[in-house]
Amino acid sequence: MKVPPLDLTQQYKFISQEINPIVQQVLASGRYIGGSIIDEFEQQFADYIGVSHCVSCNSGTDALFLALRAVNIGPGDEVITTPFTFFATTEVISAVGAKPIFVDIDPQTLNLDLGQLEAAISNDTKAILPVHIFGQPVDMTQLMAIARDHNLIVIEDCAQATGAEWAGQKVGSFGDIGCFSFFPTKNLGAFGDGGAVTTNNPAIATQIRILKNHGQSAKYYSEHIGINSRLDTIQAAIIQVKLRYLDSWNEQRRYLAARYYEFLSGITDIFPPQELGGSRCVWNQYTIRFNNQELEQKVNAGFSTCLRDWVSIQLEKKGIGSTVYYPTPLHLQPVYTSLGYKLGQLPVVEQVCQQVLSLPMFPELSTEQQEEVIYALKDCLPELY
Ligand SMILES: Cc1ncc(COP(=O)(O)O)c(C=O)c1O
Repeated sequence: MKVPPLDLTQQYKFISQEINPIVQQVLASGRYIGGSIIDEFEQQFADYIGVSHCVSCNSGTDALFLALRAVNIGPGDEVITTPFTFFATTEVISAVGAKPIFVDIDPQTLNLDLGQLEAAISNDTKAILPVHIFGQPVDMTQLMAIARDHNLIVIEDCAQATGAEWAGQKVGSFGDIGCFSFFPTKNLGAFGDGGAVTTNNPAIATQIRILKNHGQSAKYYSEHIGINSRLDTIQAAIIQVKLRYLDSWNEQRRYLAARYYEFLSGITDIFPPQELGGSRCVWNQYTIRFNNQELEQKVNAGFSTCLRDWVSIQLEKKGIGSTVYYPTPLHLQPVYTSLGYKLGQLPVVEQVCQQVLSLPMFPELSTEQQEEVIYALKDCLPELY
């Protein structure tokens, strides 16, 4: 049985009878940009996250960019963030002219190591940008306390964590601004690009609305240099339908994660991820780690590759897809090494990037498919002992 790392076609089949007529209605309406569907969706998403404002936009990247611009982060400012995320998170910090300050990660949660956060705060620090990586919420109680003590803005990157909760509260409602992506692979994925910003601050919401519409505070009256960042009406109509299913799909991810944990936690040398007490993780990815120096050396000597890559190749041979998120920490990307970041500076993330492997995870993954993944993993490791 082949098991893909992700299969979006099954979800479409499941909801096609609801999606198809809605898409046709939008097509027939002639209203492809803006309109009541956008307004309705923004209200529904704000209600879902538990904030007073949601502003939709074209992508998660734009959501982050608009968030930084709305709170006037720019040249001379520092933004503390994680090196273990998709490049977009820090790309936008650099794009507004600010400097990303990388703090190492916690190897259990793969999120920012909050114990190291305060040491990174300087006179130039303006904001903290935590990322709820793979759907695992950052301890927002601790992070917000640090931010408050130092009078720092908090912008949450919730791209991979729509619906995740910390202490019974949705991520994206803790910081000054929450940024979401509706890229198709996300927990709430459109059929194209999309994104949204959430906030309880009306002035920030207004500023983002202005910036996403060419800086216009009134029609044809631009007070700022903005961008064009709109969520297409068709995409809003689609995710409006999908939002109704999000909790049940996230529950299914949680069920599959619990099953992975049950089967994998007993296997020596596999470290499955674990949810922190007080959190509700929504498992955009299910990412295990391999950590055994002896095996690592053996694989290196015999196959000239690292253990994680060797396992991935063995799984591939059995028809099981797996993915490496992320092979290179962001501080070691060429654009940041040229700023002076270097190997050895953030030892945990540097090691984690050599160890992580994301297993198939999507709500429609069947238990039979999941068992196939587990057996394939169990099968290949003993070859090395
Ligand atoms: C953590 C994180 N931040 C930001 C983004 C950017 O979102 P988008 O692809 O919608 O621009 C992504 C998307 O992959 C992401 O995973």
